[in-house]
Amino acid sequence: MMYKQAMQAAEFCLDPDTIYLNHAAVAPWPVRTVEAVQAFAAENGRHGATHYPAWLHTEAQLRERLRTLINAASVDEIALLKNTSEALSVVAWGLPWSAGDNVVISDREFPSNRVVWESLDTLGVETRRVGLDSADTPEAALVAAMDARTRLLSVSSVQFGNGLRLDLETLGAACRARDILFCIDAIQSLGAHRFDVQACHADFVMADGHKWLLAPEGLAVFYCRQSVMNRLTLRQYGWHMLAETGDYDSSSRTVADTARRFECGSPNMLGIHALHASLGLILEHGMERIEQRVLDNTRYMLDFLAGRAERFEILTPPASERHAGILTFRPRHAPAQALFDWLHEHRVICALRAGGVRFSPHYHTPRAQLQQALDRVDQWRA
Ligand SMILES: Cc1ncc(COP(=O)(O)O)c(C=O)c1O
Repeated sequence: MMYKQAMQAAEFCLDPDTIYLNHAAVAPWPVRTVEAVQAFAAENGRHGATHYPAWLHTEAQLRERLRTLINAASVDEIALLKNTSEALSVVAWGLPWSAGDNVVISDREFPSNRVVWESLDTLGVETRRVGLDSADTPEAALVAAMDARTRLLSVSSVQFGNGLRLDLETLGAACRARDILFCIDAIQSLGAHRFDVQACHADFVMADGHKWLLAPEGLAVFYCRQSVMNRLTLRQYGWHMLAETGDYDSSSRTVADTARRFECGSPNMLGIHALHASLGLILEHGMERIEQRVLDNTRYMLDFLAGRAERFEILTPPASERHAGILTFRPRHAPAQALFDWLHEHRVICALRAGGVRFSPHYHTPRAQLQQALDRVDQWRA
């Protein structure tokens, strides 16, 4: 407890009057990330790109940190893209499709992981949206929707609305057995929950840095399994993706044989310095400890609300293997908007999602603050 309080004080600079339960949307940065951005800006202002080799060193370190985070076999499988949506588009519009093929997704996906597949309807590709509520298990429902023309399954590891966590290893094994590609939007997992691309047989994984990874918007990790990389036709071109990237006089068009081929132009160096700092913090604490703390928070909120079941309906699955850092609930006798407005008035920062109020504290959220937020919920009268 003492350790945690000290850690919170030293590593975060959040206004103590704000109860921030919105990491599933956009997270506040740690102090070291704020400082890394300030230092990068100051250096740039004073020296321009004089120290570019040092920036490249930070970029290389970031790739290694990302590799560690997701347990990729090699940094060569990691590209730095703009956001989750861009990475999904690289996959959807890179794969070869035939009319009559289909893609399986869930009916709970964030728009980015729906619209990109639906856009393939111009090629005769069907997107199958599977309802997750009616089946015995969500994994069984997703697998049941697959057939001989299914080319790819694309799911969020944790659903943005109700916080449902899928069993990725089961889904990955099912895809592998059927020779179906497995694509995971991991933005609601990375930094909150342990993630292993090899254990879950992922072919493609993408996640922007601005949620549980505690970094700015606009820099995302894109993992592409080496063995499927050549299946993606490239749709964007530029100097940075070339095999001989530093040789501006070369007339070669040969692209890198690594995931750098997906990075067409200049990198987001500012974002790289920020994500590098945030990920440093996360890896120092360790994902096992962070995950435990995140799950403890969710359990704490679930227990509190379960004790007020006559007033609030919990929309997040209660079993610990079925959720991560998101807890969504709604008042039974009034609109969720009214509760949300009351919480905002009292500086409890959260979100309205899936017809309810979504709380998403991170590992560093003080327990006392979480309790204050829950007390506010309790005090609210419609
Ligand atoms: C599941 C999921 N995917 C994707 C995104 C956003 O993606 P992008 O990085 O493209 O902004 C969100 C944001 O809320 C999300 O919850």
